[in-house]
Amino acid sequence: MGSVSPRLSVPKHIVVPEYVGKAAPTTFTGSDIKSPEQIEKIRAAGKIAAGAIEMLRDEIRPGVSTDSLDKLAHDFVIDHGAYPSTLGYRGYPKSICSSVNEVICHGIPDDTVLENGDIVNIDITAYLDGFHGDLNHTVEVGEVSEEVHNLVERTRESLNRGLLAVSPGRAVNSIGLAIESYAKRFDYGVVRDFTGHGVGEAFHSGLIIPHYDSAPNYATVMEVGMVFTIEPMLTLGTYQWDMWSDGWTVITKDKSISAQFEHTLAVTETGYDILTLP
Ligand code: MF3
Ligand code: CO
Ligand code: CO
Repeated sequence: MGSVSPRLSVPKHIVVPEYVGKAAPTTFTGSDIKSPEQIEKIRAAGKIAAGAIEMLRDEIRPGVSTDSLDKLAHDFVIDHGAYPSTLGYRGYPKSICSSVNEVICHGIPDDTVLENGDIVNIDITAYLDGFHGDLNHTVEVGEVSEEVHNLVERTRESLNRGLLAVSPGRAVNSIGLAIESYAKRFDYGVVRDFTGHGVGEAFHSGLIIPHYDSAPNYATVMEVGMVFTIEPMLTLGTYQWDMWSDGWTVITKDKSISAQFEHTLAVTETGYDILTLP
């Protein structure tokens, strides 16, 4: 565990989500089905988050600290008029999550320096005009082993398989079935306790999207206009996890390498519309 730098400031003109400075967000009581106007707001927020990831991709190389990536992303999101949603969310101290190697998710940027052969997941959510857009990508640092490269590419493909299962009238558990049946071919661990989620006015709406075959549970039927994330985490070993004493960093119990990809999408008549593109 590295050392975490002081909290970055946010200029006064940036509108801050309601949960900042509180222990937890207010329970969301609205709908996961959004109007076309609301969907465009999520897309605008998602575009900023995606732009930040695109920018960081060019900065990720051996020798760079995850804290420096956090600072670059923080400035990018603010320069585009948005708030970095993780900063102050349930007390989370940074503007991105940076999850290296065996870290499954929610790694806190610190003075840890990336090394050749590492993988790092960058998860960024932007809040703009009352709506959040949430995505993450795993990036290879320098040259990685074939085994790890395959994990990254197959995790990317598992998100694609999940997206292809999105269709109005279908239960959300068909998404996890598609992801898990693909991942099982390679004997990968499929993380169960961290899931996709409804997103919009709330960062996490309460709607849960599992990445494993959860039927007959999680049978919520997808409807046109429903907005949620899909964010599968696959590992080279177990799906079981431990948490560091920082209360955030989730690692594989067997220290096996883990990769993740995430998009926010809207359900359409014919399938899905990704809202987190640059
Ligand atoms: N962006 C993450 C997600 O995909 C949530 C991070 S919450 C934090 O749902 F507090 F850890 F930052
Ligand atoms: Co998410
Ligand atoms: Co995310």
